[in-house]
Amino acid sequence: MLDTMTVTKAFGALCGALLIFLLGNWFADSLYSVGGHGEDHARGYVIIQDDEGGDEAAEEVVEVAFADVYAAADAAAGERLWRQCQACHALEAGQNGVGPYLHGVVNRAKAAAQGFNYSDALASMGGEWTPENLSAFIENPRGYAPGTAMAYSGMRDVEDRANLIAYLDTFH
Ligand code: HEC
Repeated sequence: MLDTMTVTKAFGALCGALLIFLLGNWFADSLYSVGGHGEDHARGYVIIQDDEGGDEAAEEVVEVAFADVYAAADAAAGERLWRQCQACHALEAGQNGVGPYLHGVVNRAKAAAQGFNYSDALASMGGEWTPENLSAFIENPRGYAPGTAMAYSGMRDVEDRANLIAYLDTFH
């Protein structure tokens, strides 16, 4: 007997099979025609990458790039950039100004300068000032730590940031 349930199941199975067949076909097409004349397929391939990779892949690329730049950083060039921070920060341990002293700040725990009154944004953050974290903070303080009291607009150039952090790393 063909009741409604059986018909529905059979129809569902058929649709599923058809869908897999179509997807398989489309995928095989895109595999074989990349680099050929099939512009549309090449674009489809990029979209697949986007869906699977997402933001994580993009972030990874950025981090790898910073590590590479930092490996070749020039502390002497960083000394000149330090002027941008000097109005508010000192490099001598214990010397707090508008901002906390940055002596030994590379790999120091966040919000750990003795006697400095941090904003909640920084105090509640946790973790350490690894070179990567410093780079992200200096690039865009309010983006990295929303609500921070550091009134500095940011240093856009990744090489500048790497050089400056290499300079800070000479104070331990
Ligand atoms: C206008 C003043 C000002 C300038 C300019 C400034 N900072 Fe700051 N900075 C602050 C203040 C204030 C804080 C504390 C922020 C808070 O509590 O939210 C801070 C915090 C920091 C911290 C966190 C320290 C810790 O102990 O957790 C780092 C790192 C830092 N600044 C680096 C820099 C660097 C590098 C520059 C130069 C590129 C710079 N700052 C320029 C005022 C400034």
